[in-house]
Amino acid sequence: MKNKNPLWLDNAVFYEIYPQSFNDTNGDGIGDFRGIIEKLDYIRELGCTAIWMNPCFESPFGDAGYDVSDYMKAAPRYGTNEDLKRLFNECHKRDMHILLDLVPGHTSVEHKWFKESLKAEKNEFTDRYVWTDSIWEEPQGMGCIRGISDRDGSCAVNFFSHQPALNYGFYKCDRPWQQSMDSEGAKATLEAMKDVMRFWLGMGCDGFRVDMAGSLVKHDEDGKGTIKLWQNVREFLDKEFPEAAMVSEWGEPDKSLQGGFHMDFLLHFGPSHYNDLFRCEEPFFSSRGKGDVSEFVKKYTENYEKSQRKGLICIPSGNHDMDRLARSIHGDNLKIAFAFLLSMPGAPFIYYGDEIGMRYVEGLTSVEGGYGRTGSRTPMQWDNTTNAGFSSASKELLYIPMDESPDRPTAQAQMNDKNSLRSEIKRLIDIRQSRKALQSRGDIKFVYAEKNEYPLAYLRGSGDEWVLVIINPANREVSFDCRFTPVDTIYSFGGEIKVEDGRITVPPCFAGYFEV
Ligand code: GLC
Ligand code: CA
Repeated sequence: MKNKNPLWLDNAVFYEIYPQSFNDTNGDGIGDFRGIIEKLDYIRELGCTAIWMNPCFESPFGDAGYDVSDYMKAAPRYGTNEDLKRLFNECHKRDMHILLDLVPGHTSVEHKWFKESLKAEKNEFTDRYVWTDSIWEEPQGMGCIRGISDRDGSCAVNFFSHQPALNYGFYKCDRPWQQSMDSEGAKATLEAMKDVMRFWLGMGCDGFRVDMAGSLVKHDEDGKGTIKLWQNVREFLDKEFPEAAMVSEWGEPDKSLQGGFHMDFLLHFGPSHYNDLFRCEEPFFSSRGKGDVSEFVKKYTENYEKSQRKGLICIPSGNHDMDRLARSIHGDNLKIAFAFLLSMPGAPFIYYGDEIGMRYVEGLTSVEGGYGRTGSRTPMQWDNTTNAGFSSASKELLYIPMDESPDRPTAQAQMNDKNSLRSEIKRLIDIRQSRKALQSRGDIKFVYAEKNEYPLAYLRGSGDEWVLVIINPANREVSFDCRFTPVDTIYSFGGEIKVEDGRITVPPCFAGYFEV
């Protein structure tokens, strides 16, 4: 059965905001909530109807905020809880929705729960994290923090070594210190996380993107325990916040949607072959035309068949963890990539700046645990004023150095140019929003997706409205047999197709949508 979901999700187009790099209004070099509010009209004008904002909670920022030290307090550098509430309201005024980033798998070492759990005397937080019972025993395969507590034991970590793993129990226990999912400690952690959700949903946020959602229950290879845990959360939400939208960073929709999530991402990790499209040696969307889309389509179809009635699968343009799309895909091929992204089922996610083809900035020193990801997190380029309109701070104060290239793209220039990438994306979103067949819940049937071949063709449909999508990123003419005859052109970029005896010839670097 389909997970109950908020109706707005069905035709939502998301925009991901990395708050520190978006818009700085008080000149400290770091983006802030007021800055986001100022730019909501820009996002709406592009056609996006929803926002996912990366973590904005109190944190020592060893992992850009994915190391939370207080789940219920906005990080002062972005503003206050009141400001955040205003951001929710300003979104709603524009008929937009906003998801916060929930990080349930781990906290910062500075979280008061962790400080309490370090103590030798037993207390409320002794079992809040995954601890072994001897400093000499490491939790296998997880990495750990040890030697900094009075308590005798080692604490498992979830990501960096300063992110202790919260305890939701083990699916299979084989050591005395491992607690089951039903243990008091594990249950208390989950209840505490529900309180965090209650807090923000009560304040007006529309749901969560959930960080590392598949990582919570340990020793859970097939994800059965973690699925069960999220089903418990689903029950709570159905009861108290049936309108809340839940999107997982899991990368395996067949599992996450069973857990009651409305959507899951296909990502740079996991079994999806997402990287074959945009981020590998020969990406399918490169004009070289040496890529292969067939493995991606195979996996997609598998996932789709397993999960389509339950929820959605979404393919992001990128995110704060991946190389910028424009690092490997260039020029017109970016438009072609978006013609694909904006005609697939599931809600599209546009990473801030991808709409103007912001570049990956090479050679930067890591900022706040970004490492190689830092080059994808540089300040948004708004216009040609100081610091591209991002901030009035002096250069050294900027959160991350700007792209300094003289021809760096800006939002303003692209808004004034009807041939820009941004204008193309705006058109594509408009078309998507005007046709049910192209929206999130419309069906998909692949027509042509052969190994090492171009183009890619698929039908999108709903009821008796069907649209044929033809995508040819390769810089050469290609053709394929097709039993559907394109009648009217809904959208085309890069020339015209020829149809003859059931064979369609497609010009180089082309994307088109057709009524059939
Ligand atoms: C997720 C986030 C990433 C973060 C990690 C640890 O993958 O997207 O940015 O570093 O989880 O929380
Ligand atoms: Ca600021």
